[in-house]
Amino acid sequence: MEPRLEQVMEWVKEASAMAQHLRGGNLRVRHKSKADLVTEADTAIESFLIDKINQNFPDHSVNAEESGEHGEDQDHQWFIDPIDGTLNYAHGLPQYAISVAYAQKGALRLGVIANPPMAEFFSAEAGKGAWLNGAPIRVSDTRELIDSMLITGFRHHLIDTPRSNINNFVRLSREAQVIRRLGAAALDIAYVACGRAEGFWEIALNPWDVAAGILMVREAGGVVSTLYGEGHLLRGEVDILAANQEIYPKMQAILAEERSKTL
Ligand code: IPD
Ligand code: CA
Ligand code: CA
Repeated sequence: MEPRLEQVMEWVKEASAMAQHLRGGNLRVRHKSKADLVTEADTAIESFLIDKINQNFPDHSVNAEESGEHGEDQDHQWFIDPIDGTLNYAHGLPQYAISVAYAQKGALRLGVIANPPMAEFFSAEAGKGAWLNGAPIRVSDTRELIDSMLITGFRHHLIDTPRSNINNFVRLSREAQVIRRLGAAALDIAYVACGRAEGFWEIALNPWDVAAGILMVREAGGVVSTLYGEGHLLRGEVDILAANQEIYPKMQAILAEERSKTL
């Protein structure tokens, strides 16, 4: 049996209510590493979503941020980021998301990204389209970088390395209208899908950050690939570029040029 989008949306809506409820109370937080936190919402929402999957699809495998990989069946895979933008969430900034995706034989089939404080629920289904709160979404038709809002992020552990992303940020800042660092990659990608931003790139993300968003941008008429044409989008460290069709090659060329200076 295949999961249905409405079913996943129901789970994510329940998870969103949990996120808001827990944020409203005395949130328990612990350090995962020097500059990374895990809150009780990350663990509670992840367990809640994994329970739903196990109850409904006991054979499916899951790749989830806090508890890692479960299950053997690589033909049916789920990707879960229970709270994307945990640092925003912990600091009380409303820019955070819950992201859930399902892939069959390695092909993304369903994706849901929720931003609970804004009551925004993005969704996508392979071959059927992408939606925001049920209304169809499309990438923007902006053609020039100078008219484009781009979004990116920086990984703390890469900050003193050639993969810091700082040079890309400086270079694209000269070419684009503006670049934002919003702090929740899943939402960054959803914003490309609905045309609020023209492009998003980031280095060293994880499959659970991007899986739902990849399907969303593609279903909304945009392009997604690994940043330099190497590696995978749903395995290991993910360097990603997502944009509308006009902006994609322009960003890709600039990012490749910047990278060649560091090699
Ligand atoms: C993080 C956010 C952030 C991105 C980081 C991610 P998390 O996810 O998506 O925008 O820059 O690289 O790790 O840890 O809050 O789920
Ligand atoms: Ca994340
Ligand atoms: Ca997370």
